[in-house]
Amino acid sequence: MPAVVCREIKKIFGDGGTRVEALRGVNLEVKERELLMMMGPSGSGKTTLISVIAGILTPSEGECLVAGLNLHKMSDIDRTHYRGIHIGFVFQTFNLIPTLTCCENVAVPLLLNGVKLKPAMESAAKLLERVGIPEKSNSYPPQLSGGQQQRVAIARSMIHNPNLIVCDEPTSYLDHDTGIKVMELLRALVTEHGKTLIVVSHDPRITQFADRVVRLDDGRII
Ligand SMILES: Nc1ncnc2c1ncn2[C@@H]1O[C@H](COP(=O)(O)OP(=O)(O)OP(=O)(O)O)[C@@H](O)[C@H]1O
Ligand SMILES: [Mg+2]
Repeated sequence: MPAVVCREIKKIFGDGGTRVEALRGVNLEVKERELLMMMGPSGSGKTTLISVIAGILTPSEGECLVAGLNLHKMSDIDRTHYRGIHIGFVFQTFNLIPTLTCCENVAVPLLLNGVKLKPAMESAAKLLERVGIPEKSNSYPPQLSGGQQQRVAIARSMIHNPNLIVCDEPTSYLDHDTGIKVMELLRALVTEHGKTLIVVSHDPRITQFADRVVRLDDGRII
């Protein structure tokens, strides 16, 4: 079974004068254990598409299945529960909680899944070490550089061991060496741990880590 299937996905925002057709009939299959890279110009619909796949946005038309399940036909509670266990998301703008320490931010998905504070914080600290910023554990996100916040967001996306991880521009703030290190880490999740990854990026350095590259243009895959 494919990890993700999109059939004729359309997404329309607004109406009348503000109507935007962000996705215009997207068909896409992502295999299990695949690292798919998604490229395309600004405004082409990349963030919209991965948000639909991750169950954050509902498509206006079409069908999207994750591991054979239609998240958009589930109740809100079931969908939130499913996402909390099976999906990790790295947001383009990080979405870290400014009043929690970095370690607490990374631990949030585990805490939401009912893991106790101490083991959750221990796992979070280990992961901050893996992404190269163990010394930032007790700092708050606003005290970090963009690249450091990005690594906190990446650690948070994988801490609950989800099958599908969706990353929106995960290396945009990282220097060359850190970008490569992060991509090696993401690649290992696929190769060694059997995860499925969708990575949105403009970054040509990432192509070498991808099994396949698709391009979006004006709401369609070309
Ligand atoms: N919540 C929203 N309300 C209205 N329009 C939106 C919304 N989100 C996205 N859009 C519009 O949908 C289109 C696609 O946006 P999207 O964010 O998916 O592009 P993108 O490919 O991720 O761009 P970038 O590379 O700049 O991040 C754009 O025209 C954008 O203005
Ligand atoms: Mg985007």
